[in-house]
Amino acid sequence: MDKLIIRGGRKLRGEVAISGAKNAALPIMAASLLASGESIIRRVPHLRDIMTMGRLLAHLGAGFHYERSKALISTERINVFEAPYDLVRTMRASILVLGPLLAKFGRAKVSLPGGCAIGARPINLHLMGLEKLGAEVKLEAGYVVARTRRLKGAAIYFDTPTVTGTENLMMAATLAKGTTVLENAAREPEVVDLADALATMGARIRGAGESVVEIEGVNELKPLEHSIIPDRIEAGTFMTVAGITGGDIVLKECRMDHLDAVVMKLGEAGLQFHGGEGGVRVIGPARPKSTNVKTIPYPGFPTDMQAQFMALMAVAEGTSIVKETVFENRFMHVAELVRMGADITVEGGIATVKGVGRLHGAPLMATDLRASASLVVAALAAKGETEIRRIYHLDRGYEMIEEKLRMIGADVRRVKDE
Ligand code: EPZ
Repeated sequence: MDKLIIRGGRKLRGEVAISGAKNAALPIMAASLLASGESIIRRVPHLRDIMTMGRLLAHLGAGFHYERSKALISTERINVFEAPYDLVRTMRASILVLGPLLAKFGRAKVSLPGGCAIGARPINLHLMGLEKLGAEVKLEAGYVVARTRRLKGAAIYFDTPTVTGTENLMMAATLAKGTTVLENAAREPEVVDLADALATMGARIRGAGESVVEIEGVNELKPLEHSIIPDRIEAGTFMTVAGITGGDIVLKECRMDHLDAVVMKLGEAGLQFHGGEGGVRVIGPARPKSTNVKTIPYPGFPTDMQAQFMALMAVAEGTSIVKETVFENRFMHVAELVRMGADITVEGGIATVKGVGRLHGAPLMATDLRASASLVVAALAAKGETEIRRIYHLDRGYEMIEEKLRMIGADVRRVKDE
């Protein structure tokens, strides 16, 4: 396992190219199963989760080829309809093959993803929707076993907006007989990007990005060709890096329209933004100001930015209240930030962050993707050296993280952890 060694205290300056969005690429790769032929996906980030999805598609019989940010997926010979536990347990997003396999082949057997560090992560809404579409869904020995002759359009209401639930059912509905309406659907940009990719296949979808999405089923789809949107969470993470180091960073290929809530909150913390063609310049203050934040589904402040934002607030002037409403255990970064000298107390889903003048480096352990990002953000401003172990969590969602940080002047290196 690798670890990162970071010496903090530098004002980071320079340009960062934002990669394609992991959480758009994953469902779009799964969508290739809905057609027979070769799908082409561009701006696919080189990440562990992407390679895991590639391995899963290959396990199903697809051809998967990845080079220079382009993924080619050939689905003429899909002959396995099971996503095994040892693949699904390494990446929950494997559940995204359930809808496409069922819609295209009438059968699917997918291991229940199980929980993860940030919460129980149930998939009851995915399964409720598939049953509404007429599938027979059973749970057998830790697997979801689903069958159908042909899915039938239906009205599906989500008790809570679910990103992958919306994506799974949107994909399933594209080949159903009749029209499906998803109510209280997730509105994330990655859902819209999936809908755009499905449209290149001939799918008929209206309202993606809104709370009500209508999908008119068709009999057949053709392979997709699509370029993934930039990763708004990577962009937001580098914005907090500029904020915490008092830096001046230009983010290229950044979609500011996907980051309204994040930019508003970072603006309250004293960061300045100068929009430009295809990118944005972010200038950090001498010291951030405290502000409160509450995570809610898009277009609200994203839960995937909560840990990084908390690192920024840990050195802000004043006290901030951080409320996490999406996941039940997404404060794994707090204990590690406290070991760096942060003054944070947690009560239920609410963290009270009293800004301190300076954090100090410490040996830390990453626990999940965004918690590890938060530790990197904190380490870049901390006095002295920080060692972050188990950074495979980070490699799941950040392409070439240390190269990108070094490009803007950070003192960071990756070493083998004995
Ligand atoms: C997606 O996870 C993202 N992953 C997550 O990103 C992100 O944090 C999350 O959406 C919220 O934005 C991918 O897109 C691959 P949800 P997902 O279903 O779809 C409850 C990262 O850091 N729920 O929107 O699994 C659930 O418990 C990852 O890149 C049910 O109750 O999240 C949670 O409280 C982490 N039943 C809420 O909904 C269900 O059937 C939102 O979860 C489904 C979800």
